Amino acid sequence: MASTPAEVLADVGGNQGRTMGVVVLDAVQAMELPEEASILDVGTGNGIVAIAIALCGYKVTTGEPEGVNWGPWQENAEKAGVADMISFQPFDAAAMPFDDGTFDAIVAGGSLHHMDDPAAALREFIRCIKPTGTICIVEPNEAGVARIIEDRGEHPPPLDLREVIDVKPHEWTVIAGETFDTYFLRSTENM
Ligand SMILES: C[S@@+](CC[C@H](N)C(=O)[O-])C[C@H]1O[C@@H](n2cnc3c(N)ncnc32)[C@H](O)[C@@H]1O
Repeated sequence: MASTPAEVLADVGGNQGRTMGVVVLDAVQAMELPEEASILDVGTGNGIVAIAIALCGYKVTTGEPEGVNWGPWQENAEKAGVADMISFQPFDAAAMPFDDGTFDAIVAGGSLHHMDDPAAALREFIRCIKPTGTICIVEPNEAGVARIIEDRGEHPPPLDLREVIDVKPHEWTVIAGETFDTYFLRSTENM
């Protein structure tokens, strides 16, 4: 029986849980957020990211555009035993229904390279994050996209987030992984 968060993610999310899920788990732990942190997950999909956040002990709001339903996230969250930690709200990342400075953390895993307008999404993340908050985006790199294509066929190309918009006065910290890279974006005014 799965017992550690990494085992639960592998059990629920297969390859996606073993690769992206575990990278998100490390990233959430690295942020050292307070227990009551307000956290948004952008691009619900199979729920792997939201489940990873919940397995770290945090409540999380997750969302994707209305009626899109990319995957059985509720079923996965039930299986992982964290359904009560996750709430869903439909939204488009390019025009989010949240006030300025709402979240301590905004997390997105494997979503930005699927979006029509990742630049608009990044601007919205910057608008909705608290001045002291962290935006954390996990994206497949060249090797990751090649692996997904091997498994499932056609796939959008990888996206280097540093090339999408000028984020000043925020600054990127990037951690390169085997198949997924982690991008942290924070305001330099609080460093
Ligand atoms: C491959 S899934 C990402 C994996 C997902 N985070 C998980 O944990 O299973 C891509 C996601 O991007 C979402 N997406 C695409 N365009 C979007 C947009 N404009 N706003 C919000 N989500 C979007 C899709 O609905 C889908 O849920």
